[in-house]
Amino acid sequence: MPTLLEIRGLSAGLRGRRSVTQVVSEVDLDVEAGEILGVVGESGCGKSTLATAIMRLLVPPQVLQSGAITLWLKDGVGHDLLQLSDSELRQLRWRHLSYIPQGSMNSLNPVLRVEQQMTDTLIQHGLSIAEARSRAAAALELVNLEAKILNSYPHELSGGMRQRVIIAAAVSMHPALIVADELTTALDVVTQRQILQELAGIRDELGATIILITHDMGVVAQIADRVAVMYAGKIAELGSVNDIFETPLHPYSQGLIGSIPRESGGRIEGLPGEAPSPWNYPTGCRFHPRCPNIFDPCRERIPALQTQDSARWAACHLYDAEVAADA
Ligand SMILES: Nc1ncnc2c1ncn2[C@@H]1O[C@H](COP(=O)(O)OP(=O)(O)OP(=O)(O)O)[C@@H](O)[C@H]1O
Ligand SMILES: [Mg+2]
Repeated sequence: MPTLLEIRGLSAGLRGRRSVTQVVSEVDLDVEAGEILGVVGESGCGKSTLATAIMRLLVPPQVLQSGAITLWLKDGVGHDLLQLSDSELRQLRWRHLSYIPQGSMNSLNPVLRVEQQMTDTLIQHGLSIAEARSRAAAALELVNLEAKILNSYPHELSGGMRQRVIIAAAVSMHPALIVADELTTALDVVTQRQILQELAGIRDELGATIILITHDMGVVAQIADRVAVMYAGKIAELGSVNDIFETPLHPYSQGLIGSIPRESGGRIEGLPGEAPSPWNYPTGCRFHPRCPNIFDPCRERIPALQTQDSARWAACHLYDAEVAADA
């Protein structure tokens, strides 16, 4: 698969009174055209900061520190999102890349009908009122909503319907890339499953690429092709869903998978402790204080994300032959 989005050395942080800390640390990630990439990790791991940095929507005290993010469009031209002018970026947003922020379900304007909220942006992008209306209706169909919803106010809709309206609005321009942050977190399990199926349908129908950010391994298992496991601002492991669920390499991935409640019941081995604050990252491997497999180098040396075979990557000294030889 060709690469749609190429992230290199991306760091983003928070500016404090006296210093700046890193929330996302030197992330390298290739997102393949047409895939659904799950980005998963516990609360506070930097997932939303990564998403907002990709969309160039960081706001103070958040700061972009370094990196390049190249979006490769069909014409073979790469656009470095971090170098574009604001007006160039506006051109790309909606049309080529679209963002569904965390908590967006509650972001609809309560005093405007769905139609106006969905068509305003389309009209700003040059569509006539009639075209915008038919685009909006077609987008609603992708999420199994009838066009008559256009006449509704947000309070007349259930949470699941509001989330579907948000998705429909985000995909109405048929963007190449959709970044969706905690899309289904606030919804019941049945609605969550339906919406994830609709999202997979959108990928198939529009040929879109989706980065799906979630703290929920169950969501990833349902829909993603590949998974990036994030811990304390870094990618801990990257691989196909099957590989990561069947043979997780990183002890953090193993812990996350062990924490998923199983339908068959049984004891859940939770991950003890919690993710560190970006102001207080441990030295060496940031996971070492919680790691059941810790050995000496972990306290001092930062593990690099290394390929284990061409399709999977892990940042853990257990898999680094050089470190293991030294230890
Ligand atoms: N605007 C901000 N002001 C202060 N701290 C922030 C801000 N944005 C992020 N942080 C801090 O940066 C860290 C990462 O936050 P981020 O929202 O990226 O995590 P997350 O993985 O998306 O978590 P969640 O699963 O809870 O959404 C957290 O410790 C958070 O408190
Ligand atoms: Mg978040």
